[in-house]
Amino acid sequence: MRAIAVSAFRAEPSLVEVPKPDPEPGEVRVKVEYAALNPLDWQTADGAPDGAVPPVFPFVLGTDFAGRVDMIGSGDNTFRVGDPVFGRVTAPPPGRCGAYAEYVCVPQDSPIALVPRDVPLRIAAALPSAGTTAAQILSSTAVRSGLSLLLIGATGGVGCFLTQLAAARGIGVVAAVRGDEGRRMKELGATATVDTTTGPDTLEAAVRGLYPDGVDALVDLVSTDEAAFAAYAALVRDGGVTVTTRGVAAPPGVAWTDFRLAPSAALLGELAAAVAGGELEVPVDMELPLEKAPQALVQNRAGGARGKTVFGI
Ligand SMILES: NC(=O)c1ccc[n+]([C@@H]2O[C@H](COP(=O)([O-])OP(=O)(O)OC[C@H]3O[C@@H](n4cnc5c(N)ncnc54)[C@H](OP(=O)(O)O)[C@@H]3O)[C@@H](O)[C@H]2O)c1
Repeated sequence: MRAIAVSAFRAEPSLVEVPKPDPEPGEVRVKVEYAALNPLDWQTADGAPDGAVPPVFPFVLGTDFAGRVDMIGSGDNTFRVGDPVFGRVTAPPPGRCGAYAEYVCVPQDSPIALVPRDVPLRIAAALPSAGTTAAQILSSTAVRSGLSLLLIGATGGVGCFLTQLAAARGIGVVAAVRGDEGRRMKELGATATVDTTTGPDTLEAAVRGLYPDGVDALVDLVSTDEAAFAAYAALVRDGGVTVTTRGVAAPPGVAWTDFRLAPSAALLGELAAAVAGGELEVPVDMELPLEKAPQALVQNRAGGARGKTVFGI
């Protein structure tokens, strides 16, 4: 089958032929119709996460997928052949595949759920990692209606979902972006959008103008150095909370969560129901053929994501 793989860590991803996988007991095989790009995909290609079992090369990249159940392994079963499903490949063990492939095998008890009838597979594929991250960040901040959240990196996958989920709960979202993205972010529900490229003091002036004592929460999807994170954390009121998805430490005395995604099938089901009900928009910005995944990964690494990129397989 066709797949996008690396031959070693930090090698260029390329289109390869690999054997079609067979489902192990307790797994389903999914004929993938769409996979979605996440920064985790190129981060994984750069090296194994701490503590992870090293993969077998060629290592097929990709985390998020949507398609149809095509074969079912032995044992207890909750799916039927032909079911439309979407989900997330979590840490494929050695020799197993990621989602940038024609077929993927995943355990039935992993984050995989049925796609509601009215939701297209290309939309469902864009939901798993970024959607569940946004939902779990929101629960971890425990910010209530009427309070405020400063969101750094709001134009990407996680940011577009988080802006919508927070706004729907009555939380004021200050979206920090690069470029002229005010209209797009307002449509997603942001209270204010600040282009951080217009000057070093623009963001502080905007936040203090709206919330003189500072925002109630910071979610930083971007900063990888402590000084940058601390500068944003200085815009949080005393007693407020900060969250990073990039593993960067907070200054002493600041309430801080080093976010780690723990996706579940139940949460996927909730998000898909919200999409089907018209309460959550899935911002698919680009749809490309699988062959274009290597270039798209290079582009994502350089920045500039606007919502999600999906690959038609
Ligand atoms: N810890 C976890 O469990 C977990 C879970 C999910 C995601 N993550 C991480 O969280 C990060 C965000 O994920 P994602 O899926 O949203 O990525 P994404 O779709 O690539 O979006 C990142 C966004 O950040 C923007 N950006 C970059 N630098 C910026 C800056 N200085 N100021 C404002 N905006 C900036 C980018 O646009 P511009 O370049 O145009 O500014 C882009 O829109 C990734 O690094 C991902 O690996 C971690």
